[in-house]
Amino acid sequence: MNTMDRLITLHQPKRLEIGAHSVAQVGAWAAFSKRALVIASRSTAHYVARLGLGGDVCVIDDVPPEPDLPAFNRVLECARAHAPDLVVGLGGGSVMDVAKLVAALWDGTQALTDVVGPGLVEGRRTPLAQVATTAGTGSEAGIRALITNPETKSKLAVESPHLIADLAVLDPELTFSVPAAVTAATGIDAMAHCVEAFTNIKAHDLIDGYARMGIALVGTYLRRAVENGADAEARAGMMLASYYGGLCLGPVNTAAGHALAYPLGTRLSLPHGLANAIIFPHVLAFNQSAAPAKTAEIAAALGLAEGADEDGLKAAAIGFCADLGVEMRLSRHGATAADLAGWAQEAHAIRRLMDNNPRPMRVDDVERLYHEAL
Ligand SMILES: NC(=O)c1ccc[n+]([C@@H]2O[C@H](COP(=O)([O-])OP(=O)(O)OC[C@H]3O[C@@H](n4cnc5c(N)ncnc54)[C@H](O)[C@@H]3O)[C@@H](O)[C@H]2O)c1
Ligand SMILES: [Fe+2]
Repeated sequence: MNTMDRLITLHQPKRLEIGAHSVAQVGAWAAFSKRALVIASRSTAHYVARLGLGGDVCVIDDVPPEPDLPAFNRVLECARAHAPDLVVGLGGGSVMDVAKLVAALWDGTQALTDVVGPGLVEGRRTPLAQVATTAGTGSEAGIRALITNPETKSKLAVESPHLIADLAVLDPELTFSVPAAVTAATGIDAMAHCVEAFTNIKAHDLIDGYARMGIALVGTYLRRAVENGADAEARAGMMLASYYGGLCLGPVNTAAGHALAYPLGTRLSLPHGLANAIIFPHVLAFNQSAAPAKTAEIAAALGLAEGADEDGLKAAAIGFCADLGVEMRLSRHGATAADLAGWAQEAHAIRRLMDNNPRPMRVDDVERLYHEAL
């Protein structure tokens, strides 16, 4: 215990419903609602009936993965036309990020581009329920949202306490339908949130507790959830891991791992979880010398080679992800050596994350790690 002199703020959803069938609690909680707007994706809209909402419910069923500004603005226009008294996000991080921003912005004068950064959202009048259908981002727990700017190919990050949910629902049964590859990638994203907060220069004892629980759950359950999507215990464990990861993001956030993953997401159109999986072993090993004790804890919880040097740890972590079915070579996802210098500049410039890394990373370090991942 040595970080209690550091002041942090943790925002959490006002109410949390957890467990199989907990999705049905939304309707009872939302008895006040006469004009709900449910934001979903093609693969999650069929869960709308399970919410048990009454009144005039408008369903948006086509939020794309990794939504960009035009996709966001389309949903915002629908919200303005419907004038909801409740916004429900029913999906993975892509849907929930859109939902929290729409709930805060639809009835105001601020555009998304006005609120990029920390603390710029003026307020929110519309209640927000977030129903997670992937176990990955932990977006239901948090105060951040990420939307892609198609012009700069970068993620616009909004952070505000006004983005926190009034109700968050963790019903593992909704994740049974997540395909194995998405389960693996999103599960590694949840783990990366915990790992990068745990070894972060802004790490805090409170958040370390959530991070430890999240990493341990991933070590126990991710493989099972990938191998058998109907393994209820494993799905529940991963849902909790994702939530804990979300709690890690609020006051501490991620570091170099996510910074290096972002250009892969925006330049190669890789899903967020997959981009993070590819990068995870390289940054874990790079940071080992700066955070040896915590890195050893992570290795033990994930069943990686304990006591290994940087190269051994990296190989073990690559093996961990590859065993889950993740194609770990960047070149197999369309990257070429000529791309890497530019991406390294981009990743290195994401100072809001890079500055959190326990071991300073120069541009040439970033480029080297990309080459090793190629
Ligand atoms: N707010 C945050 O703190 C935060 C943190 C990390 C990432 N993100 C953002 O979240 C987004 C990624 O979210 P994600 O990893 O959850 O993936 P996602 O929401 O993009 O979902 C991945 C795919 O799985 C489908 N899917 C979702 N739930 C399903 C289900 N139950 N059954 C079948 N298919 C399902 C989706 O339609 C999509 O095609 C990115 O935009 C990323 O930048 C946000
Ligand atoms: Fe993430």
